[in-house]
Amino acid sequence: MSKRIDVSDLNIYYGDFLAVEGVSMAIEPRSVTAFIGPSGCGKSTFLRSLNRMHEVIPGARVEGKVVMDGQDLYASDVDPVDVRRTIGMVFQRPNPFPTMSIAENVLAGARLNSKRMRRSEADDLVESSLKGANLWNEVKDRLDRPGAGLSGGQQQRLCIARAIAVRPDVLLMDEPCSALDPISTLAIEDLIQELKSEYTIVIVTHNMQQASRVSDATAFFNIAGTGKPGKLIEMADTATMFSNPSQKATEDYVSGRFG
Ligand SMILES: Nc1ncnc2c1ncn2[C@@H]1O[C@H](COP(=O)(O)OP(=O)(O)OP(=O)(O)O)[C@@H](O)[C@H]1O
Ligand SMILES: [Mg+2]
Repeated sequence: MSKRIDVSDLNIYYGDFLAVEGVSMAIEPRSVTAFIGPSGCGKSTFLRSLNRMHEVIPGARVEGKVVMDGQDLYASDVDPVDVRRTIGMVFQRPNPFPTMSIAENVLAGARLNSKRMRRSEADDLVESSLKGANLWNEVKDRLDRPGAGLSGGQQQRLCIARAIAVRPDVLLMDEPCSALDPISTLAIEDLIQELKSEYTIVIVTHNMQQASRVSDATAFFNIAGTGKPGKLIEMADTATMFSNPSQKATEDYVSGRFG
């Protein structure tokens, strides 16, 4: 089930350092939202605050609200572990467990949640998740081989399979193609297009072509200088952001004049 996220007035800190300031935005279900902006403007920080991964860093905290389908994710009675199960994450570098088999990699997150899974249940989950990540045909004959034996693009799709095996409602992806060749990149982009019928997807990317190819909405973040907080400059549907943004900084950035 795909869900919407509404962020209001979010400030994100590392200790005393205000890394991201005053972000408000709506992330629509069944769509892809891209975060763009120069290095250090807080895209990853903001992404991690959406599923409460930010606070695992000592001294890290947020002010403001992140609301998913009416539920404040930072309310005192909300368990961050539940939030991370509902809002899954795929990291920049594919990070499969190298010695674990392909099948066990897919099951790793799901096993943390449900203590006991019957063999047939586990097999079904492996198959459906790998099919969902568009990897099944390439690995179905070597499910018991180590995850490290896959190519970079296959490993990234394995990590996507691991994320969707937990059956999240939202998928956060932090530069999922930055380590991949153009063919694997296109495979991931096709997959993102398919996944958006079921999930709310947020992707961080430095690749403007990628943002314009895969996303429905784009948010541009910027930073005024070193030590200053990152801010959301502008957010709109992707076509508008790339052809007719309202801010000069957005236009400069998307046309490659800085960053
Ligand atoms: N664990 C941390 N502890 C302290 N400061 C951090 C930490 N992680 C990030 N920062 C700081 O927060 C700011 C935003 O960093 P962040 O990684 O979110 O930027 P980004 O937009 O994702 O950059 P990039 O495009 O290079 O990935 C930077 O000033 C960074 O140095
Ligand atoms: Mg980053």
